Amino acid sequence: MISALHSEAFGVYVHWPFCLSKCPYCDFNSHVRHAPIDEDRYARAFAREIATSAARVPHREVTSIFLGGGTPSLMRPKTVGAILDAIGSNWRVASEVEVTLEANPTSVEATRFAGYRAAGVNRVSLGVQALDDASLKTLGRLHTAREALDAVAIARRSFERYSFDLIYARPDQTPQLWGEELKRAIGEAAEHLSLYQLTIEEGTPFFGLYAAGKLRTPNEATARALYDVTQEVCARYGLPAYEISNHAREGAECRHNLVYWRGEEYAGIGPGAHGRLDINGTRHATATEKRPEAWLMRVEANGHGVITNDVLNSVERADEFLLMGLRLVEGIDPGRYAALAGRPLNPRRIAMLREEGAIVVDGDGRLRVTQAGFPVLDAVVADLAA
Ligand SMILES: C[S@@+](CC[C@H](N)C(=O)[O-])C[C@H]1O[C@@H](n2cnc3c(N)ncnc32)[C@H](O)[C@@H]1O
Ligand code: SF4
Repeated sequence: MISALHSEAFGVYVHWPFCLSKCPYCDFNSHVRHAPIDEDRYARAFAREIATSAARVPHREVTSIFLGGGTPSLMRPKTVGAILDAIGSNWRVASEVEVTLEANPTSVEATRFAGYRAAGVNRVSLGVQALDDASLKTLGRLHTAREALDAVAIARRSFERYSFDLIYARPDQTPQLWGEELKRAIGEAAEHLSLYQLTIEEGTPFFGLYAAGKLRTPNEATARALYDVTQEVCARYGLPAYEISNHAREGAECRHNLVYWRGEEYAGIGPGAHGRLDINGTRHATATEKRPEAWLMRVEANGHGVITNDVLNSVERADEFLLMGLRLVEGIDPGRYAALAGRPLNPRRIAMLREEGAIVVDGDGRLRVTQAGFPVLDAVVADLAA
């Protein structure tokens, strides 16, 4: 069970929207710019948007900060320091705050790790993606497996905590090869791994290749076998799943991502960042302008780049709670769902899904998705929410 089941968490997400090149599978809000980025100007804009956001939700204690991207490890440590200072001068910050920075594992970026550490980052999440060079090439990555492992070693020396990401269900990947790769990865990962099944996102170059029959991804049965290998190997080597794609030793879960999955509050800062803020008893879903330069201009003119600020009604709020919470192995408290929705979950649907083995209800009443249910999580959520 995950420790620290408290409800006072408040996260701050900061989005850095630039990358050196665009990976062919990625549909994140990331952009390649050939002219140099004016980091000082961005740092000032981040500080302004942080101040505006803090004025909306002033009495919070920040328990986690996540610098995501894009490629935040392209920022100078000084820029990261300025962002963290701005957060610290607008909100109270918990003494045990988790400060994660997403980094690409190239040698250039690893040289900045000491600077990030000095700026206040205490956890890095590295986008390793694969441990063999052929796969890295297919994925369009700019680093080799050796370089990635060297960056992991530097991360291990520089930070109290680190994690890395791998993508599986890659073209031509067999369960046996994946099992071997995963064991090597676990040997390198101290406490946390994120393991994502390759998704073919519409609008990406992989989508075009896939549609043209030039990208062979594993079929459903192989994808299922790859998922099962993931669960087995990780559990056997001490990194059980705590979320559908995330594995950790007990107590080493990413506290920031738990804020999202547990339906807690967070501010979204930077281009294309999302937030969930509780204001006067209602939950606001915020989103900022995605295009970096347009975001910059909005912040300079108005103090923020928010272009969407929807008040969620009780059904939307409850559905989101279900959708996010069921991703976690700890599951949800059906009582909280009922309080949010104004009605309980349908007992007939619960009974049906239990019978199918997709969910269980624990002795303490928590409702959880089983290992057999996770591969069909979307259908389970849809059934319960209907
Ligand atoms: C914001 S991205 C990346 C961080 C960093 N820019 C990098 O690439 O190393 C977070 C993670 O999402 C995963 N990811 C991105 N697109 C994906 C896709 N189409 N399918 C599966 N995983 C994906 C990758 O593992 C990636 O590390
Ligand atoms: S996967 Fe990471 S490096 Fe590649 S384009 Fe997406 S955000 Fe940038």
